[in-house]
Amino acid sequence: MITSSIVKLLLLIPLLFSGADALSMDYYMMSCPFMEQIISNTVNQALNRNPGLAAGLLRLHFHDCFVQGCDGSVLIDSTNDNMAEKDSPANLSLQGYEVIDRMKELIEDQCPGVVSCADIVALAAREAVFWAGGPYYDIPRGRKDGRRSRIEDTINLPAPTLNSTELINMFGKHGFTAQELVALSGGHTLGVARCASFKHRLSNFDEANDVDPVMDSSFAMALSRTCGDGDDVRVAFDRTRNSFDTGYFNALQRGMGVLSSDQTLFSDPRTRRVVNGYAMNEAMFFLDFEQAVTKMGLMNVKEGNQGEVRRNCRRVN
Ligand code: HEM
Repeated sequence: MITSSIVKLLLLIPLLFSGADALSMDYYMMSCPFMEQIISNTVNQALNRNPGLAAGLLRLHFHDCFVQGCDGSVLIDSTNDNMAEKDSPANLSLQGYEVIDRMKELIEDQCPGVVSCADIVALAAREAVFWAGGPYYDIPRGRKDGRRSRIEDTINLPAPTLNSTELINMFGKHGFTAQELVALSGGHTLGVARCASFKHRLSNFDEANDVDPVMDSSFAMALSRTCGDGDDVRVAFDRTRNSFDTGYFNALQRGMGVLSSDQTLFSDPRTRRVVNGYAMNEAMFFLDFEQAVTKMGLMNVKEGNQGEVRRNCRRVN
């Protein structure tokens, strides 16, 4: 009798552990019940002061997930013997690190060593989207933080020069459909791009054209003037850079996509119908974005002892 109870108990142990490690909506319910409140208060305060950070927080989540999975690797600082992801050219214009640090400090004060940086990034992006007028979606928590952050891994981030086929292939490798690619690209309803990211479209475009022929010509002229002031000048993706809305898709329809990786989604018949659908139906965009960004937030997540809960998001423990 006693032996069979012990055997049952032994059989249960792995189940109990995998249950505790798996992602879930109420992962921190007992261990850190106020973490969600801290995240939403801190994000709201930061964005009320600087609305442009909404874009920064959403982009941080994307760049985190596409490199080594959603494991907070983008937050790690370089050291003498390791160049980290954040020092890659693709990441130099990321913003929002201080907001993440602030949330982490406040959370560590309440429940030390419990809430991962990867979860904070994912939840901060969710709050940012909602703050900007986008959908509110629930996401599973329990991601662990990774211990690796290397500049060379950022090769997995898409370049703004990619065409639709390259984007479809790249996102397809991560399990996303072409429709999900368009929904996720809708993240560009927030924020800005530096001239460095699209200036190749404005002069000596190819043998036949000086500027990118799919770009609206007066828009091209305006951008050329603006970018005369240098590579670091920033241009909004759409007319409402701090509002999560359909403005980005409307811009693509007018030939006013800023990056070639944006405009290509309208040029290609495989994705144009999705762009047109989202442009006229905000509810559809919101629903698809919600699903796609939740899926992105589950990319290669680390569970249990595959990772750790960093005490400081900028350093492995
Ligand atoms: C489809 C492939 C994508 C490419 C090629 C791409 C590329 C870029 C580039 C080049 C910039 C401007 C960087 C600069 O000039 O400093 C940018 C900004 C941004 N990206 Fe993407 N991106 C893509 C997908 C996404 C996704 C999936 C999201 C989120 C769901 C996203 C969110 C953002 C945001 C919010 C900004 C503005 C950041 C700010 O203003 O601080 N991007 N992206």
